[in-house]
Amino acid sequence: MPLIRLDKYISQRSQLTRSQIKALCARGKVTVDGAVVKSSDTKIDPETAVVAADGAQISSETKRYILLNKPEGYVSSTEDGDGPSVLELVPEELRTKDLFPAGRLDKDSLGALLITNDGDLAHKILSPKRHVSKIYIVKLDRPFKSKYVDIFESGVELASGEVCLPAKVKMVENCEKLAFIELTEGKYHQVKRMFAAVENHVDILMRVSVGGLILPEKLGFGQCMELLHKDVENLLRPLDFDAFCSEFSGVFSAILINK
Ligand code: URA
Repeated sequence: MPLIRLDKYISQRSQLTRSQIKALCARGKVTVDGAVVKSSDTKIDPETAVVAADGAQISSETKRYILLNKPEGYVSSTEDGDGPSVLELVPEELRTKDLFPAGRLDKDSLGALLITNDGDLAHKILSPKRHVSKIYIVKLDRPFKSKYVDIFESGVELASGEVCLPAKVKMVENCEKLAFIELTEGKYHQVKRMFAAVENHVDILMRVSVGGLILPEKLGFGQCMELLHKDVENLLRPLDFDAFCSEFSGVFSAILINK
């Protein structure tokens, strides 16, 4: 197995950035096989090295974070079910057998889906207690009504009797059948059921952000990209809904209009 730099080894397996690792090394807080290593560019054998940073052992397994722009027709599970699994879209060179989709998008839904092997991060993104928001753009069957804003803000009641947490919704300017909606929870078919509760119908649904991570315009349907550290950190950051809608309505409405 070729040797790799210590900072690369740690950054691939933890949330630490290379500059944090460098600083920890300089302070004598990083050990390899029990010996302090002060220089973060030291080469180590990733197969055998036992590395600890700031008193905690670094897992020998690589953490992987992949953002997929999900196309329709794929299911958000690890195995093929009612259609091929989204995992089939992960390029060979990024695949490991422990990857799973962190969250669900319906078979006919589109957009941002995180695929990872980091169970802790997935839990943080999905737990309603963390309030990590997800923004969707929808194409509606009938024109948007301004009353949706208050209804969704006060917690819409679904046909099942379940009451949703307050959600923000905004019509795309000059496009009365397009709207953005921000949720901080993930009930089954939630967006579709929320619009059904106000007697509308979602024809197309696309997730455009997870936390502070916005789906890049250049990532086409069916394409994946490996996330950089700053992108992974962004997943847990808040995003200003109104500012997002103003800045990105042009980009995402063009994508939906052309669907
Ligand atoms: N809400 C839905 O209705 N479907 C999805 O795929 C995601 C959110």
